[in-house]
Amino acid sequence: MYDWLNALPKAELHLHLEGSLEPELLFALAERNKIALPWNDVEALRSAYAFNNLQEFLDLYYAGADVLRTEQDFYDLTWAYLLKCKAQNVIHTEPFFDPQTHTDRGIPFEVVLRGIKQALVDGEKQLGISHGLILSFLRHLSEEEAFKTFEQAMPFRDAFIAVGLDSSEMGHPPRKFQRVFDKARSEDLLTVAHAGEEGPPEYIWEALDLLKIERIDHGVRAIEDERLMQRIIDEQIPLTVCPLSNTKLCVFDDMRQHNILQMLERGVKVTVNSDDPAYFGGYVTENFAALHHSLGMTQEQAKRLAQNSLDARLV
Ligand code: HPA
Ligand code: ZN
Repeated sequence: MYDWLNALPKAELHLHLEGSLEPELLFALAERNKIALPWNDVEALRSAYAFNNLQEFLDLYYAGADVLRTEQDFYDLTWAYLLKCKAQNVIHTEPFFDPQTHTDRGIPFEVVLRGIKQALVDGEKQLGISHGLILSFLRHLSEEEAFKTFEQAMPFRDAFIAVGLDSSEMGHPPRKFQRVFDKARSEDLLTVAHAGEEGPPEYIWEALDLLKIERIDHGVRAIEDERLMQRIIDEQIPLTVCPLSNTKLCVFDDMRQHNILQMLERGVKVTVNSDDPAYFGGYVTENFAALHHSLGMTQEQAKRLAQNSLDARLV
């Protein structure tokens, strides 16, 4: 039914690999690693995917990630996502991974990175999907802990294109991470950050001015600040918007209230992304389909959104 959306060549610029862990794979990895789960079956787990806000989702997302233990697990997770990309004509992806989610439970940094990176390299060769990997810091942890993670990553510097910032936004403003982002830029890494998902426009200003980001992840609350909107339009700063995520996490009560098309028509460089597709009900094509279904997105608008995603690539 949405073949025309599937057929558009697209880039995905906002995707957490840990958020692409489908319940079926989660159960398979739990069995492989002999981990007891608090849910009886896949259906019971899926029915727990009802969230009132970002934090309720994150609690389940970090719990789910506990089944990821070996290099092969991270490979399988990433490969499954790449097969979805192939099926939906996502020709380039710039995924995030959250090393601290794993190193804090005793999984070595290199186990996580090697599994993910090998799958991405195989994906280029076997599926023709190009990539740039983004190391994301957990903002609910301290800057000191982010620095520690950065030091662990430096022996693998060439595996990344950028650093990012995710997890609980409220109370953890971008300025908390200014020095570690300065350090990353001194190593010629690019920077992006989640801002303006639940947090206020001030967090977007900080991400731009202090973290010197190339793209804003989410950024939907920019619309509350006209001066910020003008800057984003004038400088053509891309927003990586995630419509299904925003409705599942109650950033908007209903898809019909989503502001992505309004932003598009004002000249904001908005893109469509899936964020955590296993938890929010769909990959990139399903996000486009929701915009068509609920907001009347036209073919011409879909083409512009897809072109924006190709233009907003970091590599
Ligand atoms: N926001 C913040 N942190 C996240 C998200 C998100 O949507 N998904 C995974 N980590
Ligand atoms: Zn995100």
